[in-house]
Amino acid sequence: MAARGVGLLTRVPLCAQGRGQVQRPIHRLLSCPGTVAADLRREEQTSGNVETGSADRLVQKRFSEVQKERREQAQRTVLINCPNKISEKKFLKYLSQHGPINNHFFYESFGLHAVVEFCQKESVASLQDATYTPGLGAEAAIPFRSRFFSVKLKTAENQPSERSNVCCTNQSPPTSRKIFELLCYAESIDDQLNTLLKAFQLTEENTKLRYLTCSLVEDIAAAYFPFCAIKPFGSSVNSFGKLGCDLDMFLDLDETRRLHAQKTSGNFLMEFQVKSVSSERIATQKILSVIGECLDHFGPGCVGVQKILNARCPLVRFSHQASGFQCDLTTNNRIALKTSELLYMYGALDSRVRALVFSIRCWARAHSLTSSIPGAWITNFSLTMMVIFFLQRRSPPILPSLDYLQTLADPEDECIIEGHNCTFTGDLNKIKPSGNTETLELLLKEFFEYFGNFAFNKSSINIRQGKEQNKPESSPLHIQNPFEISLNISKNVNQSQLQKFVELARESAWILQQEDKDRPSPSRNQPWGLAALLLPSVSNSKFLDKKRRKKPASERIKNLLDSIKGSNTENSRNTNGKRTVSTQA
Ligand code: GTP
Ligand code: MG
Repeated sequence: MAARGVGLLTRVPLCAQGRGQVQRPIHRLLSCPGTVAADLRREEQTSGNVETGSADRLVQKRFSEVQKERREQAQRTVLINCPNKISEKKFLKYLSQHGPINNHFFYESFGLHAVVEFCQKESVASLQDATYTPGLGAEAAIPFRSRFFSVKLKTAENQPSERSNVCCTNQSPPTSRKIFELLCYAESIDDQLNTLLKAFQLTEENTKLRYLTCSLVEDIAAAYFPFCAIKPFGSSVNSFGKLGCDLDMFLDLDETRRLHAQKTSGNFLMEFQVKSVSSERIATQKILSVIGECLDHFGPGCVGVQKILNARCPLVRFSHQASGFQCDLTTNNRIALKTSELLYMYGALDSRVRALVFSIRCWARAHSLTSSIPGAWITNFSLTMMVIFFLQRRSPPILPSLDYLQTLADPEDECIIEGHNCTFTGDLNKIKPSGNTETLELLLKEFFEYFGNFAFNKSSINIRQGKEQNKPESSPLHIQNPFEISLNISKNVNQSQLQKFVELARESAWILQQEDKDRPSPSRNQPWGLAALLLPSVSNSKFLDKKRRKKPASERIKNLLDSIKGSNTENSRNTNGKRTVSTQA
């Protein structure tokens, strides 16, 4: 029965994922030497280099270098809403009147959109100069010059007679069917973990779209705060982001603030006249409030704007409809940016890290251990910390402690934020690859064993030292914030959620052990290995095998699809941006 049910899944054509999704076309009309090649090299690094092992590490860029390059690239880029039928060739020819185009891609989100990256920033200004504000009939248009355009066909004769010939890149997570097909067709559990990573990780285009969205919001914020920067942080940039994850943005006002006097000659010091408020928090609230208003009233494509100013970390939440991202904008949150850099470092140090983190995140989501609704559950951020800690505890360690990374820091790496020491080396090439050669299969099994038996009642997870510490307070789960060390990032987790995590970890370890004994070879007709761990029935029974045999296959498959559907919509809230708020530690 089971075999028949899964067989049904495998007969679904691989291409049944909607209109014309293809593998990353990167077209060049006129080239800027080096840029595309660099993109493609990076793409190979991020998506191709996921084999098990640590000696295969390539020379990697610093986080700050990546951010700088991506931001500069985004500033030369525009977003264009296109008619459904458009000739790609004519469209590019038309745009290239304004200057050479480095690359472009199309995608669908509330209509067809093109992301077009010019070689020079001046081309954007030229395009803006040639663009007009439409009259909207009975409604009044608020004039606003941004880098988000609509292109219209001048006359009906211009319409291409053939159907639209553009290929759309995919910006959504893979369907549950696709994932189960891929996992069942994998050769080994290691292969399954790598497959899952490749299927869910952010694509080159999705990453570009994230930086572009930040850049568009930056244009709006800059109207009030010239020289501000909007920087993505969290899973969009820390290498642990799954397609469909939210876009965390940080409004950086350091350049606007200029806290330090410039060295000038003469006897005087010039200061800006400013208004003052009674605390940093109030300043943050006022700034975010005004940006929130602006996004709401004038931000093209920004809908469902909510100002959540009383949260521990005040934020503005909105949906950027044209990109499909749910965005959380914060300011005065520099430590979170530094945390993203730290996670990026850990993700890049060994190719097993990301594969393991993605699988654990998918596993947790499949069993409702995590949720897009804030509550007493474990967050993806906490799970990532747990995987990093586990990899620090291997023998020999796969990842170094944060304290060790601090010892490798150069003077330029020194970073103190609000009195917290956030110093660590930003140079990946300084860190020797680990001598540990354990397979992903073993690590997955051991992860479940380790946390299935961890002394949560007395020990704290501490990636700074890379070893357990005595718990300083009584929260069921204690994961020390790596920089604000008196804080617990999992303070929200209650005893019953922790218990659920522990039970599921034990059961999953047990399933993998049983599979080891019983499975002669991977089967394409039955969920096995990682696919079996994603089955929802696991959580409810210690006697999984018996239960599996009893339950009709059709029902199990339905449950399985429902559960994975849940994971695909992770972080996807409806476009009015409604979501409740979490408190951060
Ligand atoms: P997903 O959005 O779930 O894919 O992961 P994420 O890492 O982006 O998590 P989230 O959007 O919830 O938070 C964004 C970033 O804020 C994280 O990567 C952390 O840097 C930081 N952050 C999140 N939760 C906490 C917390 O509880 N304490 C602290 N100090 N920082 C947090
Ligand atoms: Mg996030």
